Amino acid sequence: MDKVLIGLITLIGGAFLMATHASAESRFITEEAVITIEKRQAAMARMLEAVEQVVPRLGANRTAPVPMNPSHWPLIRKEIETTRAFLAESEALWTPPTNLGYGSITNAEPGIWSLPRAFERRYSLARTSLTSLEEAIDREDADAAKSGLCALVRACGECHAAYRVVDTQSLIREGVGWLGQYPGCVRSY
Ligand code: HEC
Repeated sequence: MDKVLIGLITLIGGAFLMATHASAESRFITEEAVITIEKRQAAMARMLEAVEQVVPRLGANRTAPVPMNPSHWPLIRKEIETTRAFLAESEALWTPPTNLGYGSITNAEPGIWSLPRAFERRYSLARTSLTSLEEAIDREDADAAKSGLCALVRACGECHAAYRVVDTQSLIREGVGWLGQYPGCVRSY
């Protein structure tokens, strides 16, 4: 009788382990999740493009600094507006089904979903730095714009360091490569 009971417990335990293992291994990827992930990666990539347009025009390029040319202000304004629009678009694209863990079609860390308030704080830092950057652009104040840009790329880079699975090359390119040579903005990740 005891043997039967032990056998039964082992069987149930084994089935339970298999079930939990299977659910962790094969999280269901919905079509909607795939589309949402593609959209948010595209929005992010679009922000990088925009910022890359702004850096050299503000004379903030680390490797090839050029003096700020006042005729660049309108384009800088436009690219920063684009960045703001895509930042806002990306905010709605972290739906729970897109939390797919490591090594999948997304490089988003599950921490986004377990610490939502900390994640939102990163967004608010990015928005605040965009606001000071826009104000500096409106005043055509190059030094203030460089500081705003510096704060913005830091907000991008720090969110990535915390919530995105990145390889070293991306970190170098996106974290350090954007930053200007002016004091206070050089940072090593
Ligand atoms: C609140 C956090 C957060 C902020 C702020 C943020 N990002 Fe991201 N970014 C992420 C996460 C998370 C991913 C990974 C998304 C994925 O793979 O699903 C990502 C991915 C990216 C990618 C890779 C996209 C791809 O093709 O896979 C680029 C480029 C990028 N971000 C640029 C930027 C730029 C530029 C900024 C600032 C203007 C920025 N990000 C601000 C969290 C953030």
